[in-house]
Amino acid sequence: MAKNKVAQLENMNLLTKRIDLDAIAHNTRLLKNLAGPAKLMAVVKANAYNHGVERVAPVIAQNGADAFGVATLAEALQLREIGIKQEVLCWIWSPEQDYTAAIAQNIDLAVVSPQHAQALINTDAKHIRVSVKIDTGLHRSGVDEQDWHEVFSQLHAAPHIEVTGLFTHLSCADEPENPETDAQNDAFRRALAVAHSVGLEVPVNHMCNSPAALTRPDLHFQMIRPGLALYGLEPIEGLDHGLRPAMSWVGQVTVVKPIEAGQGTSYGLTWRAEDSGFVAVVPAGYADGMPRSAQEKFAVTINGVDYPQVGRVCMDQFVVYLGENPQGVQAGDSAVIFGAAGQSATELADNIGTINYEVVCRPTGRTVATYVSEGEIDEA
Ligand SMILES: Cc1ncc(COP(=O)(O)O)c(C=O)c1O
Repeated sequence: MAKNKVAQLENMNLLTKRIDLDAIAHNTRLLKNLAGPAKLMAVVKANAYNHGVERVAPVIAQNGADAFGVATLAEALQLREIGIKQEVLCWIWSPEQDYTAAIAQNIDLAVVSPQHAQALINTDAKHIRVSVKIDTGLHRSGVDEQDWHEVFSQLHAAPHIEVTGLFTHLSCADEPENPETDAQNDAFRRALAVAHSVGLEVPVNHMCNSPAALTRPDLHFQMIRPGLALYGLEPIEGLDHGLRPAMSWVGQVTVVKPIEAGQGTSYGLTWRAEDSGFVAVVPAGYADGMPRSAQEKFAVTINGVDYPQVGRVCMDQFVVYLGENPQGVQAGDSAVIFGAAGQSATELADNIGTINYEVVCRPTGRTVATYVSEGEIDEA
C-alpha cells in the first residue's frame, strides 16, 4: 500500500470516504463461494450502499456476480451505462412511470402487485423479463397470497412476458432465532407450488439477503441476493465470516487550540472543559452526514488514539477533546470517524443509535470519494 500516496491525495481533501476496492473484490469472491451452486445477485442500490456504484459494480462483476439488484429504474439504467452486461433486477418502479427504456435495456422488472402485472401485460413490448415479488410476511410490497394464482396465470398467458422466477424479502433474517424466517420460507414454497401448478417454470428463485445468505444455506434456492456483506459488514453482530469492510470516513483536523477549564465549545456551549486542555476541529458536519443527534455519543481515532466528540455537531464541523494532548495531535492529522485504523461502522452505529447499513450511507455533503486498489489510489 502506497501510504504516502494515500496521505498526499487525502491531504488535498478535508473529508474523504476511502473505498477499498480490493475488499469489495474479496467479499464478492467470498459470497460467490458461499453461494455454492446458487447464483450471486449483488445488491448495488443506493449508489452501492454509498460506496460509489460506478467504481464498485465493475469490481463485483469481475469477481463473480451473476446478476445485480437495484431499487430504481434510474439505478438499473446507470448499470447499463457503465457497461454492466449481467442481469439487472429492478424492484421499485411504478406503473405510472415510463419504463420503456428499462425494457429496451433488458432490465428485469419486479412485479410487486397485481397492478404491476397488468401494466406489463398491457405493454406492447416484444419481450419483458419479470421476476414476481411474493409477499411472504414483510407486508411492504409483493403479491399477496390471494392473488398468486391469478397473477401467475395472467403472466403465463402473456406471450411477451418471460417469468424468470419468484423472489421475496425476509423481515427478520438478522435475528437467527426468529421463527418468522421459516414461516416466510413456507409461504415462499407455497407460492412456488402455485406457480408450477399454472405452468410457470420459475427457474431462478431467491430470498436471501446478507444475514440469510450467511446463516441459512438451506434457503439459498437458485440465487442469493446480498447487499451489506459485499461491502464487508456483518449484518448480525458478533458473527465473523471473514468479510473486509470497504469504507473508511476520514476528516483532516483543521484546528487544534487550547481550552481553559470551564470554557465551552460549539453552539450553545453545551459542553464545558473540566480541566484545561486542547480541542481539535474535524470538518464533518450534519451537512456531510454526521447527525446532529450524535452529539457526544462517539469518538474519532487520531494516530491510533480515540478522542471523544464534544459539544454540538454543527453544519460543517464538530469538535473533539484532546485532554492535555499528550500525543501531540496537530492540524493536518487524519481523524478516522469510522473504518480502517478507527472504530468500525458497526461500533459507530451502536454508539449513535443506528445500524451499520445507515452509517455507510451517511458520508455525503463535502465528502470526496477516493478508491484504493493494490496500493494505487484515485478520486471518484
Ligand atoms: C429487496 C432487497 N433484497 C436484498 C437486499 C439486500 O439486503 P442486505 O443488505 O441485508 O443484504 C435489500 C436491501 O435492503 C432489498 O431491499
